Amino acid sequence: MEQGSIPSPHILIFPAQGQGHVNATLKLAELLSLAGFKITFINFQYVHERLVRNTDVEARFSKYHGFQFKTIPVCRPDDPQRTERWRKLSVKSKPIFKRMVIESKPTVNYIIGDGVLGFVHDVAVEIGIPAIQMHCVSACSFWTFFSIPDVVAAHQLPIKGIPTIICHPFLNDLFIPFNCITYGSNLLKLKGKEDMDRLITKVPGMETFLRCRDLPAGFCQVSDISDPNLLFITNEIRKSQALIINTFEELEGPILSQIRTRYPKIYTIGPLHEHLKTKLRSIGKQELYSSSNSLWKVDGTCITWLDNQPSQSILYVSFGSSTIMTRDQLMEFWYGLVNSKKFLWVIRPESVINQDGDNLGEIPEKLQEGGKERGYVVKWAPQEEVLAHKAIGGFLTHSGWNSTLESIAAGVPMICWPYFGDQQVNSRYVSEIWKLGLDMKDVCDRRVVEKMVNDLMVDRREEYVKSTARMQELARKSVSEDGSSSCCLNRLIEDIRLMNKKAYASDNDKDKKYFF
Ligand code: UDX
Repeated sequence: MEQGSIPSPHILIFPAQGQGHVNATLKLAELLSLAGFKITFINFQYVHERLVRNTDVEARFSKYHGFQFKTIPVCRPDDPQRTERWRKLSVKSKPIFKRMVIESKPTVNYIIGDGVLGFVHDVAVEIGIPAIQMHCVSACSFWTFFSIPDVVAAHQLPIKGIPTIICHPFLNDLFIPFNCITYGSNLLKLKGKEDMDRLITKVPGMETFLRCRDLPAGFCQVSDISDPNLLFITNEIRKSQALIINTFEELEGPILSQIRTRYPKIYTIGPLHEHLKTKLRSIGKQELYSSSNSLWKVDGTCITWLDNQPSQSILYVSFGSSTIMTRDQLMEFWYGLVNSKKFLWVIRPESVINQDGDNLGEIPEKLQEGGKERGYVVKWAPQEEVLAHKAIGGFLTHSGWNSTLESIAAGVPMICWPYFGDQQVNSRYVSEIWKLGLDMKDVCDRRVVEKMVNDLMVDRREEYVKSTARMQELARKSVSEDGSSSCCLNRLIEDIRLMNKKAYASDNDKDKKYFF
């Protein structure tokens, strides 16, 4: 859509390599394509190969005029450099990305970089292109990361005795099994060294309920404040002066007010999947909606299995794209589940390790046998479809932000077993603030699993159904025509158009700076 003689803006979007990041960002890309913008979507090459292998993403996006995929050829899973840390990935990617932006045809007008890929923003600043960071995490976890320097200044960090994490999770990333002990088992070893229930009082708005155990694991739960992961992430997320966040005002209003004291411009446009669906429906193109931006092959047979189950009788169990658990932990879940409700369980084969940290490579036989009676096990599910299925009554989740928003939008209560990063904060909010479920963090015991499943699905069901139905309604309203997220998206689109217009008008102005 050209506006008069001004060409429509060309926006470059670059997500981090996790499933959740790619998924949310593709939804944003589709919303911006619907607004008539030209989009170049950049993926790390090995991620894109997985995406193309497991979805129809190229055909789907070819319907949008001016849309193209490009890839950055670094950090293949079979590359020795995979063992390097995330920040080194940035060093390798930056010059390639910079060249790509400079040589781009058409000229890049705006850059939307993932909130954890700070180098994308750095490149934009160096070249002089307007840019904004997109945060695929919740506002509450963003704000926690943001406030960490104040927490450190108040001597509320480090946490004494917390074990060092051997491998950075993102760098073992999607396809390579961890060769380290999991966070869950690390945390169990902490007993007696430091009170993980100690309150952290220096995150504004969370003074009364944020505990050490709710801080992002792997980044902020550190025994040394010079921990490179802590320094890296707190620096990385602070690059731009405005933010896009996949959340909605009615869910995170109080924390968004806190964030606004530091960032006057925030675009809250979530839940993105619901937003896109609603937008396509409003223009009569709902058939274009596809939930699948999966990096794994989706096993749709579970939907047929769900079709034959009673309404709200099934617990959906999935720990997302990067959780690793030991065989012992897996068996604790297994016994807890078989002793409570029927389940549909996603177990990625690479997600289970033995005590030596080696990948099990297969789902234990016991689960496959028992699964036939008590539930159904798949390697990867069509999650949005599953959560929207009438047979689903609860979700045992790792509290990844996409999973949390998908559960909220489907009105499904949650049991949270967070693994790392933002998930620890999300689960605290789900249980303590939003009252949408229960938090099982740092515990992996069959009796606790059984009790929590029974609480969620039977004993306290009424309470949770009420709160989730209310939040589901608010989520829907936020993406409706005059809803808060819808208005924010319109504002983002208008702001981009306006900047484009100004940039076009003052094309000869060498000093032009149009950063958000
Ligand atoms: C991590 C972070 O915790 C998350 O908050 C951040 O936004 C992205 O990285 P991840 O493990 O990718 O999370 O989880 P999540 O954000 O929940 O995303 C997983 C996505 O995969 C969801 O959109 C979910 O629908 C999809 N999924 C998961 C499937 O399609 N099928 C499955 O079987 C499991």
